[in-house]
Amino acid sequence: MIVSAYVFADGVEFAPEAIGAAAQALRAGQLIGLPTETVYGLGADADNAAAVAAIFAAKGRPSDHPLIVHVAAFDGGMSGVAHYAGRVPSFAQQLMSAFWPGPLTLILPRREGVGAIAAGGQNTIGLRCPAHPVAQAVLAALRQPTAGEPVVWGVAAPSANRFGRVSPTTAQHVQSEFADTPDLLILDGGPCDVGIESTIIDCTRGAPVLLRPGAITSEQVAAACGRALLSPEELEAQGQAAPRASGTLESHYAPNATVRLMDAKALQQALDLLGTEVDKTATPGKTVAIYSRVPLKTAARQIELRRMPSDAAVAAHELFSVLRELDALRVQLIWVETPPDDVAWDGVRDRLQRAAA
Ligand code: TXA
Ligand code: MG
Repeated sequence: MIVSAYVFADGVEFAPEAIGAAAQALRAGQLIGLPTETVYGLGADADNAAAVAAIFAAKGRPSDHPLIVHVAAFDGGMSGVAHYAGRVPSFAQQLMSAFWPGPLTLILPRREGVGAIAAGGQNTIGLRCPAHPVAQAVLAALRQPTAGEPVVWGVAAPSANRFGRVSPTTAQHVQSEFADTPDLLILDGGPCDVGIESTIIDCTRGAPVLLRPGAITSEQVAAACGRALLSPEELEAQGQAAPRASGTLESHYAPNATVRLMDAKALQQALDLLGTEVDKTATPGKTVAIYSRVPLKTAARQIELRRMPSDAAVAAHELFSVLRELDALRVQLIWVETPPDDVAWDGVRDRLQRAAA
């Protein structure tokens, strides 16, 4: 059930009943679809073990894959951090001041006795203070209970998709992922600005470790805390095991069609080889989709051509929507032009490589 989080009369405002209903559902131990600036999350009260367990069940996610806990921006996110995290290294503090609220998740030592199920049993916890005003309105409502109600400190929310599939960037995407749960409350906060999941930095290894690239680049992270970043590979070379992160599994974010990355020249060559007919036996409709920054030509009607924006942020914003639209055409193959080898494209390149794996 999609509920608009906004009232569009006389300028845009929050729909107080929608925010209130979402907060009430979370207090009651239910799940909700929650907009954030990156992707939509499937949220539950992070301190309610049964509610958090229901997230794993709804997603079909293995229970040892930890979830991100979202905290309110009140006092810079620090009271949420104090509730869930133990010692916070000073470079992590610098990253919070630089990027929160925003698309950055920090892995911190977990305070004993809190958020154990959300953390997938690890002694660390992933925390993020999201920038989306609707997410913040819900988190603020949970932190300011009416008399008699306990404070809810954080909302555990993985991306609101089935395990391994493409993350949702609209309320409609969430509804289609969980079509078998028609009474799931999905707050509609519009299409997500960023479009790919948050950058994840592990802050429990003495130096910042990049676990997942996102809109905030590794260069920006290094500049903000004055520390060089380690990769999980460098960490392993030092004899430390890299932490488990399902967003870092080799195959993830996968549409139904088979995704392949190619450079522009290989793409045009493949199109020329196909000529006018892709598959004579195929039912009418598209068989192959191409998503490229350069313009390409084809004489075949069964090929769908889409242009990828030349700006990395714009490409990220539409990436998951485009993959879903191409899937909806029931193409068998999606051929994508390999993104530029530039740090601004790290997040998009990473998602496409995993979609293709
Ligand atoms: O942008 C985002 O981060 C979105 C929105 C909803 O906030 N959330 C998201 O959640 O992408 P999810 O569950 O799809 O991905 C979370 C990633 C996973 O790769 C998980 O393994 C990692 O964060 N993670 C969470 N807690 C962790 C921890 N304690 N240690 C290591 N990795 C952790
Ligand atoms: Mg996910």
